[in-house]
Amino acid sequence: MNKQRRWRAAAVAGIVVAMTATTVILGQGTSSAASTLGASAAERGRYFGVAIAGSRLSDSTYATIANREFNMVSAENEMKLDATEPNQNQFSFGAGDQIVNWARNNGKQVRGHTLAWHSQQPGWMQRMEGSSLRSAMLNHVTRVATYYKGKIHSWDVVNEAFADGSSGARRDSNLQRTGNDWIEAAFRAARAADPAAKLCYNDYNTDNWSHAKTQAVYRMVQDFKSRGVPIDCVGFQAHFNSGNPVPSNYHTTLQNFASLGVDVQITELDIEGSGSSQAEQYRGIVQACLAVTRCNGITVWGVRDTDSWRASGTPLLFNGSGQKKAAYDAVLAALNSGQPNPSQSTGGPSTSPSNPSGGGCTATYSEGQKWNDRFNGQVTVTGSSNWIVTVTVSSPQRVIATWNTTASWDSSNVMTARPNGSGNSFGFTVQHGGNWTWPALTCRTA
Ligand code: G3I
Repeated sequence: MNKQRRWRAAAVAGIVVAMTATTVILGQGTSSAASTLGASAAERGRYFGVAIAGSRLSDSTYATIANREFNMVSAENEMKLDATEPNQNQFSFGAGDQIVNWARNNGKQVRGHTLAWHSQQPGWMQRMEGSSLRSAMLNHVTRVATYYKGKIHSWDVVNEAFADGSSGARRDSNLQRTGNDWIEAAFRAARAADPAAKLCYNDYNTDNWSHAKTQAVYRMVQDFKSRGVPIDCVGFQAHFNSGNPVPSNYHTTLQNFASLGVDVQITELDIEGSGSSQAEQYRGIVQACLAVTRCNGITVWGVRDTDSWRASGTPLLFNGSGQKKAAYDAVLAALNSGQPNPSQSTGGPSTSPSNPSGGGCTATYSEGQKWNDRFNGQVTVTGSSNWIVTVTVSSPQRVIATWNTTASWDSSNVMTARPNGSGNSFGFTVQHGGNWTWPALTCRTA
């Protein structure tokens, strides 16, 4: 039986990381403590992601951490406008594909970043204005979203379109000057191109509920929802430092946006600092997300401090040597003490009889949590520690996340799982598309 406990905020180094949610009730964890961020988030119906720089994937320390810890990937730069359309109507997907393929080959999902943005435009686009720019922008959205159709969990359709400061106005840019409706036009084009992807508006400095920029984005989302503009989610970049600390009302912000009927995602998290102060701020962010039913997941903006766009601020979860920081431990502990999202869950875990297996080992399947769109499964192997398990799912099912295993795909519905040093039990998430059939397992020794 779950005990209920009050979630207590942390006041750290003069920064109150309390959120206004001292009244938020979280249940204590019901699942066993997972050993990686992605695994723990998945047990709670969420993802834990990371921004990947394609050029760093050849660094084995980097790739090992990224593969082990995360189940969602964003391309740090490789899917931006200058990367994907360097010359007008000449598209270049090689760098983006490297990251998307790495993610898919390792059982991870992909957040698309980003389709329309005033920054990192190719030179030809920077020089455009007016109706020709509007057409070029929509063409870009359509072509890139079509190319990646079916491979993207969520798209940052429009990035950073509001001004900082107290005006609450749109940011001046060549895109804004094409007309105030450029944002909704981009969302409609993205929906037409990839109807399955969640479509997000993504911005920074939108964390404090009382700030004019937060309010302005809120009003836009409210307006879009009331007029049927296809928006599914709001991304909160969450780049924090001493000048822009985690606000005390962060939970309020996430909850108020979610109450508009959109998902909320923390999309580029990094917090400058070190030690317990940094760790407690990270903990507060994770707790705030877990306290909001529609907070789907958290992405950190890089693997190690030295990989960060602001490396001198040591803002990430691993140090330059790839060791876990106190912030990592705080994040994992916060995830592990959250409970599975009750409103998304339609049932608790139950065990099954062993599935037919052969070849020197036995793989046993247990049902995990179930949600409207996906379910978790757990496989326990006996008879060998050097096993190869195939997991076959039934169309339209798709495995969208794995934990405590190294997985590869022989075809879109056959996953091969091997030990990754985490023991003889592994888990996975299946997006079921309405088909609740249990996966079929085989086990053999390597
Ligand atoms: O790859 C080239 C290299 O060949 C060249 O020698 C060097 C010289 O400056 O530049 C390198 O490219 C840099 C690239 O990062 C890769 O390191 C670009 O100059 C630099 O502008 C680029 O910065 C990126 C920044 O977005 C650009 O706006 C950061 O990596 C990236 O982390 C950052 O990410 C943004 C999000 O997209 C949106 N939200 C804010 C976030 C942080 O600024």
